[in-house]
Amino acid sequence: MDGAVARNSEAGNHATHLRTQLASFGADSTAAEHKPDLRKTGSHPDHWYPLARSRDLKRGKSIGAAFAGEPIALVRTGSGTVFAIEDRCAHRQVPLHQGVVKGETLQCSYHCWTYDKTGKCVNVPYLDKAKSLPNGVRGYPCREAYGLIFVYPGDPARLDSAVFPDVPSALDPNYKTRYLDREVRCHYSFMHENLMDMNHQFLHRRLMGGIRTVFLELRRGDNWVECDYTFARVAGKQPIGEKFIIGGGKKSAQGGRDLMTIRTGYPYQSLKFTPKGSDHPALDLWNVYVPVDREQRANHTYGLMMVRKPSLPGAIHLLWPFIIWFTEGIFAEDRTIVEQEQRAFDLQGADWNQEIFPIIKELRNVLIRQGVPLTSQFDRRTDGASTDSP
Ligand code: FES
Ligand SMILES: [Fe+2]
Repeated sequence: MDGAVARNSEAGNHATHLRTQLASFGADSTAAEHKPDLRKTGSHPDHWYPLARSRDLKRGKSIGAAFAGEPIALVRTGSGTVFAIEDRCAHRQVPLHQGVVKGETLQCSYHCWTYDKTGKCVNVPYLDKAKSLPNGVRGYPCREAYGLIFVYPGDPARLDSAVFPDVPSALDPNYKTRYLDREVRCHYSFMHENLMDMNHQFLHRRLMGGIRTVFLELRRGDNWVECDYTFARVAGKQPIGEKFIIGGGKKSAQGGRDLMTIRTGYPYQSLKFTPKGSDHPALDLWNVYVPVDREQRANHTYGLMMVRKPSLPGAIHLLWPFIIWFTEGIFAEDRTIVEQEQRAFDLQGADWNQEIFPIIKELRNVLIRQGVPLTSQFDRRTDGASTDSP
């Protein structure tokens, strides 16, 4: 069920408004005790996840990737076709990505069992031709877009209901795209919370100076949650990197205010920042946090950070080093803190968070509702792992 659940047009009413919202949502610390532990909730596999950047998979090569502990070999054939198959030879389970790309197939490096793009074993060089070929390995739907290689690791029967990500700014020449591509040692849920909870600007006080976050509106649906913020600078000067990304905050003739919209549309997350008086986002960020290991205590963050080019041709290239410097500084602070959150969880063994911010409570509900219990995900995988050689 969609619909706005809160609106506050007056920034001055922010605190009162939050108190009202807290009451209406119920600060339900007792109810939370009965909910599944978010940090033990798996990212649902029935979606498209990027597992590599296009540039890292050269023609005639194969690389190893993973989704939640499931090893996946990504292959680009000589003709440029990309495919994804289980990275575990059906014969002796060695990683297939160490093999040799031959024509449109991948040959295992050990005894040269050969697999096609669907994972079917199409040749065993030493097998009598009269004998039937052994079972192959699992093949995954695979697509390339926005400079990323996406794989669908989920239930094949539900592929048609997986919506492929739509990131129009990544194809818009008015934007320059920066790729985020890094492993962060924490559960994906910490990443979602970190970006959506703009009340953590204090963490970035050295880089961003004093910023007051003003929450405007929360909207939600079954598999998404979205919120609007605006900001006010209360101390310090605007840092130069921020100025180049989001503009100088000049007063526009028509008034209005800066608007930041952050959305988790499961399993993806986006952030758009539109300066007051502008029709277009100055910053359009699209992120996904792909679980790497079986327990999902690490994620590979892939992101497309699209910065709108200034009207002066070529100026973006001059500004780019400052933008990189600024965003790297922010990401470094965020990474440190979310990895500390994960370490605290590991020591505690359970989620002890006392969440009070309605947006994050809603976000956590979406992530739990749309996710899968980690144990059942392992069971599913064990059941499905029946592709051993005969
Ligand atoms: S282990 Fe792959 S062919 Fe033998
Ligand atoms: Fe941050």
